[in-house]
Amino acid sequence: MSGPARNPIGIRDVNFGVGVAVVEPCNLYGCTIGDNCFIGPFTEIQKDVVIGARTRVQSHSFVCELVSIGQDCFVGHGVMFINDTFAGGGPARGRKELWRETRVGNRVSIGSNSTILPVAIVDDVVIGAGSVVTKDITVAGTYAGNPARLLTLRK
Ligand SMILES: CC(C)(COP(=O)(O)OP(=O)(O)OC[C@H]1O[C@@H](n2cnc3c(N)ncnc32)[C@H](O)[C@@H]1OP(=O)(O)O)[C@@H](O)C(=O)NCCC(=O)NCCS
Repeated sequence: MSGPARNPIGIRDVNFGVGVAVVEPCNLYGCTIGDNCFIGPFTEIQKDVVIGARTRVQSHSFVCELVSIGQDCFVGHGVMFINDTFAGGGPARGRKELWRETRVGNRVSIGSNSTILPVAIVDDVVIGAGSVVTKDITVAGTYAGNPARLLTLRK
């Protein structure tokens, strides 16, 4: 009897800056991680993701293809990024042309267990724990809820 096809998790083809700390196990492949970043355990960071210097990605987060995250950001525990919105009525499967990108600015802190749909987020934003970000955030401030709404403008 044959077993399942098995692929080990691990770190493959990653472009690391200097001073990066990674806590294994995690699944990082084809991405770029800037200087002095921290990547927690049980994270997956996919191909072509770019993460800026000094950003921390806490455990159990998923950063998918077509995501870029700026410098000095904090990605809390269990943050999920999305590139496939099921725009075609279900998972895009091989149709990557249906995927959409997410761009996170600098000094953005994302609370634990948040979900980030394909959006752009400006610099200096805080996103509350458990938020679902469905629209671009174009003004610096604190946002929370499902869907995420502005709580306070940045002073
Ligand atoms: C969003 C956040 C930064 C707001 O903090 P704050 O400015 O001190 O806000 P307050 O606690 O005064 O709450 C203000 C209002 O927002 C609501 N609120 C706060 N956090 C919320 C959240 N995550 N989701 C939904 N609503 C939230 C409060 O209930 C309150 O509502 P009200 O005015 O109707 O009473 C904070 O609550 C938060 O979620 N931080 C994330 C922390 C985190 O995930 N850390 C990860 C490492 S452990």
